Amino acid sequence: PETSWYYMWLSLPNLLLGALMTLFLTIVAVFDGIIIGTFAGVARVIHNKVANMLAGIYVDFIRGTPLLVQIFMIHFGSPPLLGMLFNNGQPVPINPFISALVALSINSGAYVAEIVRAGIQSIDRGQMEAARSLGMSYRQAMRHIILPQALKRVIPPLGNEFIAMLKDSSLVSVIGMEELVRKAQVIVTRSYRPTETWFEVGIIFLIMTIPFTRIVAHLERRLKTGD
Ligand code: ARG
Repeated sequence: PETSWYYMWLSLPNLLLGALMTLFLTIVAVFDGIIIGTFAGVARVIHNKVANMLAGIYVDFIRGTPLLVQIFMIHFGSPPLLGMLFNNGQPVPINPFISALVALSINSGAYVAEIVRAGIQSIDRGQMEAARSLGMSYRQAMRHIILPQALKRVIPPLGNEFIAMLKDSSLVSVIGMEELVRKAQVIVTRSYRPTETWFEVGIIFLIMTIPFTRIVAHLERRLKTGD
């Protein structure tokens, strides 16, 4: 039988394919998350009760339930829901890829919303007061004074969100989405080589996360001195 090293070499191409999918899911989810989260985060701080409440419910719901459960809810809830709305009650099948992207994007949006909210609230009150006293409207002050400054402060936490997603996206393996972890599960059931396979997966994750961890640490240092 082949040695452990040779075996790891054999399974590498397949695992790397999975890693590519993990990266892709993460990039798309965090990108969507930034769009959703910017709206939701701003909605939480502006003076509008309805917007505050809706954004609050969204963030509480997503952060208060496990991502794993959200993935199941989207994947098994969408077919009957879409069926009711568009297909005379006949369930509409949905593929794991779509479910995975939707679930991860919605999830990331809530975490980004909190990052954006914290970023805005971290800007000194005096900035808003000064802008208003110069005759700017609340909206103008937000747009031209507060948000540009907040942008700089949210960059490092957004990097952390990316790293968190890179790891947490492995949960979509439960609906059969073939990312890195699912690939490994399939390989293990065929090869009976869990030890080599899971160590290999761990190393591949590390190779993906370490560069980003470094980048975030670097950004934190640079953005701090620029303040
Ligand atoms: N591990 C947490 C959960 O299962 C968070 C998952 C999502 N993390 C994130 N940064 N979007 O609920």
